[in-house]
Amino acid sequence: MASHADELREQVRTRYAASAKAVTDRDQEGGCGSGGCCGGGTGADFGEALYAADQRQELPDAAVLASLGCGNPTAVAELNAGETVLDLGSGGGIDVILSARRVGPTGTAYGVDMTDEMLALAQANARQAGATNVHFLKGLIEQIPLPAESVDVVISNCVINLSIDKAAVLTEIARVLRPGGRIGISDVVAEDRLAPEQRAERGSHVGCIAGALSRGEYRSGLEAAGFEGISVQFTHRVADGMHGAVVKAVKTAAPSATGLPVVQPATGAGCC
Ligand SMILES: C[S@@+](CC[C@H](N)C(=O)[O-])C[C@H]1O[C@@H](n2cnc3c(N)ncnc32)[C@H](O)[C@@H]1O
Repeated sequence: MASHADELREQVRTRYAASAKAVTDRDQEGGCGSGGCCGGGTGADFGEALYAADQRQELPDAAVLASLGCGNPTAVAELNAGETVLDLGSGGGIDVILSARRVGPTGTAYGVDMTDEMLALAQANARQAGATNVHFLKGLIEQIPLPAESVDVVISNCVINLSIDKAAVLTEIARVLRPGGRIGISDVVAEDRLAPEQRAERGSHVGCIAGALSRGEYRSGLEAAGFEGISVQFTHRVADGMHGAVVKAVKTAAPSATGLPVVQPATGAGCC
């Protein structure tokens, strides 16, 4: 029998498959439904409105239409030529295509998504955009299908709130990043005053509201996974006490932050 978590993940997959199909069919009305996708596919708080006009102009229409994020991680993540970037929950591919341009022909942009229809849409969009340094991989963000220490920058746009195991996602991000690697994530984040039940009163899980972490939970989760220099900055309100936010952090290069015990120098041994 499927667990509640499995059912929730299946609801997410079904919802975003419908959303991808709606874009493919150019029938936006049929995809998200009211409040069904992040932002219900409308409004200025989610989706294409969060991208600058010049960014939208350089993309295929379907990539722009498929944008279901709550921010623009490519605007906050520093990306350099030759780097490897990974987008978790890449959807229609908008952030992978934009990142691929930023890292240039010597760099690589990966997208991971669990929904076949989204992967097909992203691949079509990348072809239309002429992006050759992109790879879309089928997989779960809780079990990223890439080797350890193979990525310079992890980005994600309104996906981690949908995960049924956020600790696993943060641990996986730390695993695939090289030491010193960085994250630039857009997500819905709750104020610390809101208990999980209060977040659920404000919107659905598939609509990117009920599953949101609070700012404190994001910080402590990242710290436990081995990150430092953590900032969680609210950018715009999406519901009472809930915000679109930019999450930045750096994977520490020091092995002591992996959670393994650190041997302290003996007292009186000349330290400090
Ligand atoms: C709200 S959409 C955002 C898509 C894209 N990041 C954007 O900004 O347009 C969420 C996407 O994440 C994918 N997704 C959700 N949970 C996932 C998981 N646990 N593992 C992999 N992909 C997931 C969905 O299939 C969907 O494409």
